[in-house]
Amino acid sequence: MNALIFRWARLHELTAPEWHAVMAAREAVFIVEQNCPYQDADALDAQSWHLIGTCDGLLAAYLRVVDPGRKSVHAGTFYAEPSIGRVLTATAFRGKGFGQQLMREGIAGCDRLFPGQGIRISAQSYLLNFYRALGFVEVGDEYDEDGIPHFEMRRT
Ligand SMILES: CC(C)(COP(=O)(O)OP(=O)(O)OC[C@H]1O[C@@H](n2cnc3c(N)ncnc32)[C@H](O)[C@@H]1OP(=O)(O)O)[C@@H](O)C(=O)NCCC(=O)NCCS
Repeated sequence: MNALIFRWARLHELTAPEWHAVMAAREAVFIVEQNCPYQDADALDAQSWHLIGTCDGLLAAYLRVVDPGRKSVHAGTFYAEPSIGRVLTATAFRGKGFGQQLMREGIAGCDRLFPGQGIRISAQSYLLNFYRALGFVEVGDEYDEDGIPHFEMRRT
C-alpha cells in the first residue's frame, strides 16, 4: 500500500467530490460506526482548514483544524488555540500508522498556520494514549460530549 498524500484546503477550495468524500467518511465513522446521532456538518466547517489524506486515490484519513477562538465545548467558552478535530482513518486503512501520520501533519500545519499558539483538542477518552504519544496533555476532568466521554487536551 502506498503512503498518504496530503492536501490542505479551506472549505470553499474543496471540489464537490472532495467534500462529498469527506462527509461520507465523517458520517461513516462518527455517526454510523460510533452509533452517535449528532450534527456533524456544522458552522465550524467554514472556519476550518481541512486536511485530507489520500491513498491509492481514496480518502484514507481526515481531520479539520478549527481556527483559533471558534471552537466551543462548554457553553460560552472558546478555545483560544487552533483546535484539531474529526480525526479519522477510514476503516479499511486502520492499523497502518496513518492516524499517527495524519496527526503529525495536522500538528505541523497548525505550527505553520498559527505559529506559537499551541493546539487544544477535545479527545475521546479511549484515545488518551494515542494523543499523549503526540505530545498532548490532559487539561481538567473527563466530560460528556454527544454521549461520548472526552478529555480536553493541550499541546504547547
Ligand atoms: C483513532 C484512529 C484515527 C487511529 O487510526 P489508525 O490509522 O488506525 O492509527 P495508527 O495505525 O496510526 O496507530 C497509531 C497508534 O495509536 C494506537 N491506536 C490506534 N487506534 C487505537 C484505538 N482505537 N485505541 C487505542 N489505541 C489506538 C495504535 O496502537 C498505535 O500505537 P503504536 O504506535 O504504539 O503502535 C482510528 O482508529 C479512527 O478513525 N477511529 C475512529 C474515529 C475516532 O475516534 N477519532 C478520534 C476522535 S477524538
